[in-house]
Amino acid sequence: MSYVFCVLFLLFNGLLNNYSVHCIEIVDLTSNGNVIWSLGNKNKSISVAGSVPGGVYTDLEKAGIIDNVLFGFNDVLTRWIAYDYWTYTGRFLLSQDSLNYNVTKLVLEGVDTVAFLELNGSPIGTTENMFVRYVFDVKQYIKVGENELTINFLSPVEAAKVRSDKYFTAPNCVPDVYNGECHANQLRKMQASFSWDWGPAFPSVGIWKPLTIELYNEAIIRSVTTHIDKNGSLWDLKIVAYLETRSTRIKGYLTANLSVNAKQYVTIRNDVNVLARDDGTAEAGLNFTISENVVSLWWPNGFGDQPLYDLKVSLHNQDSDEELSVKHIKIGFRTVELVEEDASNILGNTTAGNGLTFYFKVNDYPLFMKGSNWIPANILPELGSDKNTIDDLLLAARDAHMAMLRVWGGGIYESDYFYQKCDELGILIWQDFLFACSMYPADAEFLNTVKQEIEQNVIRLQHHASIAVWAGNNENEVALRGDWYGTKQQFDRYKEDYIKLYVHTIKPIVETLDPGRRYLVSSPSNGRKSEEDGYIAENPYDSNYGDTHYYNYFADNWDANIYPGTRFASEYGFQSFPSAKTLQTASNDQNDFHLDSKFIRHRQHSPGGNTYIKEQIARHLHLDDNDPKYFEKFIFYSQISQAMSMKSETEYYRQSQSDWYTMGALYWQLNDVWQAPSWSGIEYGGKWKMLHYFAMNFFSPVLVSPRLTLAGDINVYLINDRLVPIEDAKIVMDVFNWTSLEPIETNSYPASVAALTTKKQTTVEIWDRENKEEIFMRFSLKSDGVNSSPRNYVFPVSLKMAKGLRKPHIRPKNQLTQEN
Ligand SMILES: *[C@@H]1O[C@H](CO)[C@@H](O)[C@H](O)[C@H]1NC(C)=O
Ligand SMILES: *[C@@H]1O[C@H](CO)[C@@H](O)[C@H](O)[C@H]1NC(C)=O
Ligand SMILES: *[C@@H]1O[C@H](CO)[C@@H](O)[C@H](O)[C@H]1NC(C)=O
Ligand SMILES: *[C@@H]1O[C@H](CO)[C@@H](O)[C@H](O)[C@H]1NC(C)=O
Ligand SMILES: *[C@@H]1O[C@H](CO)[C@@H](O)[C@H](O)[C@H]1NC(C)=O
Ligand SMILES: *[C@@H]1O[C@H](CO)[C@@H](O)[C@H](O)[C@H]1NC(C)=O
Ligand SMILES: *[C@@H]1O[C@H](CO)[C@@H](O)[C@H](O)[C@H]1NC(C)=O
Repeated sequence: MSYVFCVLFLLFNGLLNNYSVHCIEIVDLTSNGNVIWSLGNKNKSISVAGSVPGGVYTDLEKAGIIDNVLFGFNDVLTRWIAYDYWTYTGRFLLSQDSLNYNVTKLVLEGVDTVAFLELNGSPIGTTENMFVRYVFDVKQYIKVGENELTINFLSPVEAAKVRSDKYFTAPNCVPDVYNGECHANQLRKMQASFSWDWGPAFPSVGIWKPLTIELYNEAIIRSVTTHIDKNGSLWDLKIVAYLETRSTRIKGYLTANLSVNAKQYVTIRNDVNVLARDDGTAEAGLNFTISENVVSLWWPNGFGDQPLYDLKVSLHNQDSDEELSVKHIKIGFRTVELVEEDASNILGNTTAGNGLTFYFKVNDYPLFMKGSNWIPANILPELGSDKNTIDDLLLAARDAHMAMLRVWGGGIYESDYFYQKCDELGILIWQDFLFACSMYPADAEFLNTVKQEIEQNVIRLQHHASIAVWAGNNENEVALRGDWYGTKQQFDRYKEDYIKLYVHTIKPIVETLDPGRRYLVSSPSNGRKSEEDGYIAENPYDSNYGDTHYYNYFADNWDANIYPGTRFASEYGFQSFPSAKTLQTASNDQNDFHLDSKFIRHRQHSPGGNTYIKEQIARHLHLDDNDPKYFEKFIFYSQISQAMSMKSETEYYRQSQSDWYTMGALYWQLNDVWQAPSWSGIEYGGKWKMLHYFAMNFFSPVLVSPRLTLAGDINVYLINDRLVPIEDAKIVMDVFNWTSLEPIETNSYPASVAALTTKKQTTVEIWDRENKEEIFMRFSLKSDGVNSSPRNYVFPVSLKMAKGLRKPHIRPKNQLTQEN
């Protein structure tokens, strides 16, 4: 399939007779186009239909060579695939017309990962980074009639080993329980595809993104970035078009056509006369201002609407006015600042007031960021851009009042669709660059490909209203400081490499291409303080600076008092099991469904994971080892335990806005890649765990949040995540006896809190109450200005000690009964 641009423009100008109408022709080489793709292995024992975009695991499954990859032990049983060498071959026809253009480029949006390419038998190039778009000039290789493109892949596992032998970089390998592969850090490939503590290894291979031949005569716009700043009552817009050409100079003009409110358009034009670099790239810009009156503000979810405005940028030929190339994007008008300033300005001369704040100010309002961490939507990258899956997950995040997701560094730069959807839903993105839990090489070859990767992806994603901040890596600063991978002896070498990669290579690129957004070197880090301290801080988890990650499998996670202070909790979590229904999609064997089965052990990648879950359950719930329904109950209780833990911890962070200026809580993790115990709130397949239902309440914009103190009393907070204050309200505390549904006592307390603030309202003394095991407290808010706010509960003693509980005998009504 191929399509052409610029016909429309010529019609407008009545020039149809004078000019060739084809400015650009795109020949689609995906499987939806006119291409027949096949896939074969090295010794040619396998030859099946191939898919582009696609990947080896998907294609072999489609061809019936392997079973469902996520079933049983298939991650290990199919591992031979990752050791074999695979070739994709595509055959397509080109007409004489297609050969008449001066420029013929093969454009591969994503190749996973190490491959060499041939067109009609001639070598045309190599690839080594799945996050890079490769563009090869193929004019001299194409021909009229049938063309053959072959993409020969190396085994990713072997390619990683070969590089590691040359430039070993810790760690040596992942823990054995991951059933993973080693040296993912050597390849610019989704790091999680060699396994993680929540996921299987599928060292994928394939052409995971679209593939086209671009034919044109003069120049094209590859990407457009938009820098939007507020200046008084005006928005300053700086648009940069990234151009590609074959000539040495691009002459013409650029136009921008921006839709604004009331169905109006703002259009401007600027002459272009730029020299192209040797590789044919050049930039051209357009600066203009528009009044704040003609566009509306874009807000994160929960704080307002998300108006998006169409922006069309076109490049025109000077003489003929031909529209040579055009890009359409949608932009939003908002400001986002990451504020790191003297914390004593807010917290005074206190322990908490030491150090710096770390919070996001959006449209000049400091907003507490509620959300979670996003891992790839699928372990096979070619399936990770599935729109239904992305819609389901992002809508679930939206429905749980999330305003920020952290796209974690062990995954991928997500699809354009993902970020568009986040723009639409008001979900801000904390975007890690794709380096996670490893030391990374810093040889020239590695740094060069990273450079390209960062440039391309920042340029691709920069215009999205949803992107709030960039971060260089996941946990590599703390890993080096904490000697996670035995690097102590070579600390200086690793520190030097660290600085070369994240500070000298990535930072300047991001700051040049996207000066409006903060680049954090690592997550977690002490932010600016880490930078002052030479990038590897003494304690990157410092409560007084930056963001933190916190996991504690030994203490009682329902107890809010165990959690250290933080300015911004960007990761925290506890494991649970997915539902039996979801597990049953991975095994048919009843014998697999107990805690010590080979199958369950195979799926638990966290060393000691099941023991931690068991111990956590045992603190609050009765679960008899000999219970005939032990496993079903274990699953259910693990979800209660996880949900309650995350509730306590999240509410602790939200409460701490008042005394520590904690301004973010992103729990680990939103989603899953297979049917296995993990930290997720949503199971593989989309089923919500109890955690996600709880998140709808604990992230509620207005929340009465009680905390049982170490002294045994209850501090009652009122959390107000709205732009308006709550005044003259009442907090009602009902005390219940476990034996009855009627409260035995009701007290109420006056309540008020300013906009976007949390405030402790009262301390209810209960330490000296008798028979605490017979009662619990229920808190609710009565306020004219608040439509809904969830009830909240305190259990004065561990739930398993509760006395007087009775079997509820709940029975569903006839499901077929229709409601009228
Ligand atoms: C060819 O490769 C397949 C898959 O790696 C392997 O199972 C098979 O034994 C090989 N055949 C020969 C003849 O080497
Ligand atoms: C490109 O093609 C056009 C028309 O086909 C021709 O006039 C022009 O000279 C060519 N430009 C270059 C740089 O080859
Ligand atoms: C803001 O606008 C004023 C008045 O138009 C102008 O003088 C000033 O340079 C602008 N500031 C920035 C940072 O662009
Ligand atoms: C801008 O785009 C709109 C919508 O496509 C169109 O109606 C309008 O004519 C364009 N304005 C200019 C000056 O091109
Ligand atoms: C837009 O403004 C920036 C400075 O803010 C400047 O560097 C750039 O040259 C301007 N672009 C155009 C096309 O005027
Ligand atoms: C803060 O408190 C410390 C210890 O009480 C005191 O030495 C210091 O002068 C105080 N600083 C300010 C700015 O008040
Ligand atoms: C709870 O109810 C039980 C049964 O009615 C009663 O024996 C007990 O004293 C009550 N406890 C409290 C604290 O009110």
